[in-house]
Amino acid sequence: MLIINSIEQLKNHLNSIREQKKTIGFVPTMGALHKGHISLINRAKRDCDVIICSVFVNPTQFNDLSDLEKYPRTLTADCQLLEQAKCNIVFAPEVREMYSEEELELKKQKIEDRSWTAGKMVDFGTLEKVMEGAQRPGHFNGVAQVVSKLFRCVAPHKAYFGQKDFQQLAIIRSMVKQLAMPIEIIACDIVREPNGLAMSSRNERLTKEERALAAVISKTLFKIKARCLAEPFSVLLKNGEDFIRSQPFMSLEYIEIADAFSLQPIKDIHSSKSAVVCIAVKIGAVRLIDNVVLY
Ligand code: PAF
Repeated sequence: MLIINSIEQLKNHLNSIREQKKTIGFVPTMGALHKGHISLINRAKRDCDVIICSVFVNPTQFNDLSDLEKYPRTLTADCQLLEQAKCNIVFAPEVREMYSEEELELKKQKIEDRSWTAGKMVDFGTLEKVMEGAQRPGHFNGVAQVVSKLFRCVAPHKAYFGQKDFQQLAIIRSMVKQLAMPIEIIACDIVREPNGLAMSSRNERLTKEERALAAVISKTLFKIKARCLAEPFSVLLKNGEDFIRSQPFMSLEYIEIADAFSLQPIKDIHSSKSAVVCIAVKIGAVRLIDNVVLY
């Protein structure tokens, strides 16, 4: 497995792979890898000849500095897991390789004066106004910024993303479409812990007790899925909300039933062909998200 830190070296290496007419599968990550990420690598291996995984904690998608500082950085362990999974290339750039000083400064200012939508090449419209977009100003702008840079550096045939970040997936699909990037986006199923908790790098920051408690998040979502044809959405959401709010150490940021494509909230089963229930919860200082497609 090759570990590359510079964009120039990466481009040169990938050009030689493209000359051999091999297909490139790309798994972008922020590291702290777990079974969920490895399932993306495994899926990519089924489809493509050469697999590249990026490990880069992207500063421009954090609207909370302490969250960025606390984000786990475990490159050595990540590389071991990727080697075992038979990934071919790891791209692990420093921040300075991906961003100029000016770009970082500009992003900081835009978050402060909430003008991050100005001068964008892509417009996510209402897609970024709800749920994560509403709670985390500038987050999706930062995700799109880094993913578009990574896509330009790697120019993969296919790129793989977990459905846990449901809204991120919609944003990336929209970006690829708007910029006419010749990349196929593949959505992969959420991988869960035995107690149902969606796997996430942030789970590492939970205590043993909090991790056990966090099982109620997916339980709530699956309960809504089981009842979604039988009860009004307003009742399902109210029950879900009350249940989460009754848990110790937990605070609910949002729980919403949304159209699976537009991500706009819907009121009943007749309002969309496919719906998803999404949730964001804080357990202590750790923010977790999850979702379940209802139909
Ligand atoms: O999902 C993630 O880990 C990140 O948002 C991504 C797509 C790697 C961009 O930094």
